[in-house]
Amino acid sequence: MTGDITPFAQAVTRVADRPDTLRHEASTLVELMTPDERYELLQGDVDFWAGMADLLSGGYHDHTFTGAACPRLGVPGLSFSDGPRGVVVGAATCFPVTMARGASWDSELEERIGDAIGRELRTVGANLYGGVCVNLLAHPAWGRAQETYGEDPVLLGSMGAALTRGVQRHVMACVKHFALNSMENARFQVDVTVDEAALHDVYLPHFRRIVDEGVMVVMSAYNSVNGAWCGENRTLLTDILRDQWGFQGIVISDWIYGLRHAGRSVAAGLDVEMPYRMVRHQHLATHLSEGVTSESDIGAACERIVAAQLRNAVAHPTSPVDPSCTASPQHRALAREASTSSMVLLRNEGGLLPLDPTQVRSLAVVGHLASVTNLGDHGSSRVNPPEAVTLLDGLRVAADAAGAHVYADAGDDAERAAALAADADVAIVVVGLTHLDEGEYIGLAGTSELQALQPPRTEADGELLRAALHRAAGSDRTFGAGGDRTSLRLPDAQERLITAVAAAQPRTLVVITAGSAIDVNPWHEKVPALLLAWYPGMEGGHALADLVFGRKAPSGRLPFSMVADQAHLPPFDRNATAVTYDRWVGYRRLARDGNRPTYPFGFGLTTTTFRWSDAAVALTPDRSSLTATVTVTNTGERTADDCVQVYAGHQSPTLDVEPWKLVGFARSGPVAPGASVKVTVTAPLMALSHWDVDEQVHRIEPGRYRVRLARHSLDPNALHVAVALPAGRRR
Ligand code: BGC
Repeated sequence: MTGDITPFAQAVTRVADRPDTLRHEASTLVELMTPDERYELLQGDVDFWAGMADLLSGGYHDHTFTGAACPRLGVPGLSFSDGPRGVVVGAATCFPVTMARGASWDSELEERIGDAIGRELRTVGANLYGGVCVNLLAHPAWGRAQETYGEDPVLLGSMGAALTRGVQRHVMACVKHFALNSMENARFQVDVTVDEAALHDVYLPHFRRIVDEGVMVVMSAYNSVNGAWCGENRTLLTDILRDQWGFQGIVISDWIYGLRHAGRSVAAGLDVEMPYRMVRHQHLATHLSEGVTSESDIGAACERIVAAQLRNAVAHPTSPVDPSCTASPQHRALAREASTSSMVLLRNEGGLLPLDPTQVRSLAVVGHLASVTNLGDHGSSRVNPPEAVTLLDGLRVAADAAGAHVYADAGDDAERAAALAADADVAIVVVGLTHLDEGEYIGLAGTSELQALQPPRTEADGELLRAALHRAAGSDRTFGAGGDRTSLRLPDAQERLITAVAAAQPRTLVVITAGSAIDVNPWHEKVPALLLAWYPGMEGGHALADLVFGRKAPSGRLPFSMVADQAHLPPFDRNATAVTYDRWVGYRRLARDGNRPTYPFGFGLTTTTFRWSDAAVALTPDRSSLTATVTVTNTGERTADDCVQVYAGHQSPTLDVEPWKLVGFARSGPVAPGASVKVTVTAPLMALSHWDVDEQVHRIEPGRYRVRLARHSLDPNALHVAVALPAGRRR
């Protein structure tokens, strides 16, 4: 070493000067390591039982998870904090959940959220963010639906890539869960069978989009795919991710039970077992001697791990960060903007919204969820902001400013609530779910098969755990119930409350707070106005008030379909040990079966009117993308954002594939009454490709394509343009 400059730091300087030396520098550093140091690089750096004790007593929110370090050479290691609705360590800004942000259809906003999260991550010492979750919503009952962006690969890919861009200005981002992790309760046991074409056309394109964006880390999933656990799945981790897509970063396991066989996981291409010394610590040496994996596999993983850290050190020098950015007024304003942009107005009969503050003197706010902090799941995605504005608080502040009075009622007695509503000018009924109804689920972690993966427990470990449990008793920081939903309907009492209040007060708005679709069919036609507010983040109350009192016009659009009948969804068994996923999910399935949804994918109302004109579609000069343009004119009376969605498909498809799908989208930005803006949507042609199983390539069929510029997937007023496309292919 030169003075106290470590070999790693010296290598960083050289790679900064000559990026082409990255691989060489990484391999030189790995050569300097002892065999034990190389093993240490392949896992978290805390002993399993000490880690579990720390986790039980709230460590998850106190500090980052570390691993993959070599202190002697100065290799700093990974320092991981989770998301996705902010930073889970400390008291960070809590943004609306990912599904809400999917409903904003605003990738520029998502990038700014990523940038804010990236800054806050630096203040807690994190260099890796685990919050880019893009598993496709295959069924709305999925307990962790709130952590992803919706049911469409293009929406998932664009939004996940935007988050990645923002976060990676400051730290490394990790995209998860690779792949097909779209059920919760069964995640440790389920094998997902999927055919190659559906895999490449529907379940993986968004991961690839984010790999193309330069994401530095991928997290494998718990479930198995086509018979191999994702943490040991060579087809996914090496053949597809690295050989086909050219991914240059590292793969980490999902937490604790993310791999089951040390040797197979290394051979398959999984680099780091996170977060503790667990399966590899116990078995890697044996598996190496048995020939399940080799020194060369281990060396390759170590080189990737060191190379990623060198790239990270060059990209993000560890300059000091100003801790005051955390939950700063700017970040809270961003959380509020995200929340207003994401709420989806589903019904607005008679133009109930916005309320005219000069006319409304009294407001009845009904339902216990109005006055509780309800930010989403209590599992790994839980963010603990310094404070949160409840929906009731936000409405009160706005009503006070307008000189109106708010009467609140917990809604436990529907008759009483209805009487209160009848006496007010307007009623707002807040219903929905909490972390007890949906979220991450760790119930199955207690099975003997998984417990067998744990290292033996000593007396001292037992003591540690008992002390941790004692410390945790009574704490609100422990993991919540969550899990997949058994029904998509609201609890009976809430449905009764809605019906009673709507019958008593014709000016009733129902606000739903949840992370995914709710079956509103039994009652939605009885209420004049319906708003999907999601788990809206720490500024949710103010955001709701912005929309209710017309300071902002609603602009969110559904990131999934809300079906008319649950029989129109694919089957969902939350205890399944095996499922088959095909390409027919979401709007694709509904269109194939000729089933009209109650509220289609992409749907959302606003409080002005728009006219679209001059639609045009062209191929970019490099023939890699389509650009669709349209002039959007605000013909109404309020400033609002519009959202242009572009759907396309071959006029005479030769394959058994969906006849049309989303290929791109863009928000207009605020358009003032009378003003016009030209909106341009760029759609990479790859979004129109299909996987050719024989040739192992994504192929674009040449010929004429129908392109629809639409406000939602079934928009009857969509503008149609035809365009001829040349053949194309990409590995
Ligand atoms: C979750 C991951 C998460 C990890 C670490 C796991 O239980 O499945 O999404 O990143 O915990 O928090």
